Amino acid sequence: MLEIRQENKKDYAEVYNVIKKAFMSAEHCDGNEQDLVVNLRESNNFIPELSLVAIDDNKIVGYILFTKIRIGKYEELALAPLAVLPEYQKQGIGKKLIEEGHKKAKKLGYQYSIVLGSERYYPKLGYVPASQYGIKAPFEVPNENFMAIELNNTDVEITGVVEYAKEFGI
Ligand SMILES: CC(C)(COP(=O)(O)OP(=O)(O)OC[C@H]1O[C@@H](n2cnc3c(N)ncnc32)[C@H](O)[C@@H]1OP(=O)(O)O)[C@@H](O)C(=O)NCCC(=O)NCCS
Repeated sequence: MLEIRQENKKDYAEVYNVIKKAFMSAEHCDGNEQDLVVNLRESNNFIPELSLVAIDDNKIVGYILFTKIRIGKYEELALAPLAVLPEYQKQGIGKKLIEEGHKKAKKLGYQYSIVLGSERYYPKLGYVPASQYGIKAPFEVPNENFMAIELNNTDVEITGVVEYAKEFGI
């Protein structure tokens, strides 16, 4: 049975390979998502509770990371990267990783998670164009590819341009 749990140090090498292999088959990738994760783990924007692995039969088959971003004076989350080994894709593992991440992020009190990605995939998990919330990307991107999900209801207005961790190089 598939287990989702927090990543620990012993997983780092295996996670590196999972991300590398997953993105080799990806439509959009810059080829160094695995190195981005290595750098983000050293950053103040890293949240250990939101670095999750999916395990099948003692093997890491998927990985997800949410890190801190800023929107105005508020601290929110960015989902990046999400990776599932090619031979395990389209079996619901990505979906489970996102759902578990959202559950934990809600408990931690975050309002929004944003993602840059496929408009065919993330809306299945509740993401809508971030512009609907008044959240803007700090770069040029088609409206439908820059998305957000509201994790907790709030009366506070969180709008503006996203500031990513410097490790993203944006
Ligand atoms: C994207 C990725 C993480 C999806 O993980 P997955 O475990 O295959 O996804 P799931 O099985 O949970 O799929 C959930 C739903 O999305 C659909 N889906 C999966 N990959 C999709 C894709 N690339 N485009 C459109 N729909 C997709 C599935 O058919 C499924 O739909 P359903 O619930 O209606 O049946 C995985 O394909 C991957 O690692 N890709 C390479 C890396 C990458 O591109 N990461 C995302 C960067 S934005």
